[in-house]
Amino acid sequence: MSRRDPAPPRDPALPPGAARCPGPSYQDILAADGDDPPPPLREQRYAFLGDGDIPFARYHDPAFYEAEMERLWPNVWQWACREEHIPAPGDRHVYDIGRHSVLVVRGEDSRIRAFINSCPHRGMKFAREGSRGGVRRAIRCPFHGMSWNLDGSLREMPCRWDFPHVREADFGLDEIACETWGGFVFIHMGAAPPPLAHQLEVIPEHFRHWPMDDRYVALHTEKVLPANWKMAMEAFLEAWHVLATHPQALYTAADANAQYDIFGPHVSRFIHAIGVPSPHLPRPVREETVFARLGRDPAALSPGTSARAEHARLLRAELGAAFGTDLSRVSTAEMLDSIEYFLFPNAFFFPGINIRLCYRFRPLGVEETLHEILLLQPLPASGARPAPATPIRLGVEDSYTTIPGFALAEILDQDTENLLLQREGARASRKGGQTLGNYQEARIRRLHLTLEQYLAG
Ligand code: FES
Ligand SMILES: [Fe+2]
Repeated sequence: MSRRDPAPPRDPALPPGAARCPGPSYQDILAADGDDPPPPLREQRYAFLGDGDIPFARYHDPAFYEAEMERLWPNVWQWACREEHIPAPGDRHVYDIGRHSVLVVRGEDSRIRAFINSCPHRGMKFAREGSRGGVRRAIRCPFHGMSWNLDGSLREMPCRWDFPHVREADFGLDEIACETWGGFVFIHMGAAPPPLAHQLEVIPEHFRHWPMDDRYVALHTEKVLPANWKMAMEAFLEAWHVLATHPQALYTAADANAQYDIFGPHVSRFIHAIGVPSPHLPRPVREETVFARLGRDPAALSPGTSARAEHARLLRAELGAAFGTDLSRVSTAEMLDSIEYFLFPNAFFFPGINIRLCYRFRPLGVEETLHEILLLQPLPASGARPAPATPIRLGVEDSYTTIPGFALAEILDQDTENLLLQREGARASRKGGQTLGNYQEARIRRLHLTLEQYLAG
């Protein structure tokens, strides 16, 4: 299909959502690789979820935001930190989500517990998010110095004589549910939450092939984005904006033929192949051209070799040496592709090797979002775990290109530059809602359907 084609003819025989981009599918590309990727990459799961518009008010109405603060965030599992952020007894991490705040602490018994980050005395936060240091043997309030043991039980109350009405047993910290998966610590503020596994759906089974606990945080960025958290996330839930937003990638990224999967209310996935050209390009592209666009020397590509296969082969050696680990048996798809799992409400996990990211999106206000990127690198074969990277904070205007050696900087800048225009345009709209593609934007629709379920309680 040419970039100039106005529209493919509509096939009345196809049910809604069944149409696909002409040209090779992701599964065709996988078959052509001829190696043996793990079974989850062979799976395809899509169902048509409707085609009504999604109201723009969801992105700027304070009442909608307030409903999310009341009914979504306190009632859903969220990744609070990595286990490596609190490796020793007494280490703590603060996780804020809107006005909610959680203190995650590793106990003397090495168990990780989570508490509402608010002093039972007069409400003081025990610590701010991002503040350094641990709580050591006790969680001590900075205001009047009351303290609690690492299991949340009351430890010490200065001027105890003035509180005859307080029973120690009733004055513990407000503990909430806490579980771990893949080296991530998850919290849930609800009274009787379902097990985390319920929300993770296929993720534990799929990620058996890509253990996330065997990785460490090699880079961590926190960027403020000028849009509602859902609008910001949706920029990362589909790949077909490559055509207009990232045109430099058209020779090396299969965009319109990306695969989209909906595994359940909470988990979806896209996979787009790297090292193959976009089906939008009007003419066949030579392998040497793709190889050159991948940053390789086209003269070094032997005749009959695909740029994708050769790029993967070279990367296995280069990244294997850089990580101090053996990547020789990793499939081409895992080496190269953008394999992106979304976990409702706000987390993304990329198990690939070259694209090895995690994202988290958190509302800072109705139209402001904190977007975190964690580069999760495989541990060296020695098993030694480097300390997690300290977050680098970027303001709305700051470019990712200020981070030395961050390969995705240009792409991420392009993604985030769209947001201000989209936010303003959505507010200016008289149409009142966004119209989604049935296949390529199905994950955005799934996000909204699940959100509606939470808001309905
Ligand atoms: S507010 Fe915490 S001890 Fe007073
Ligand atoms: Fe993008």
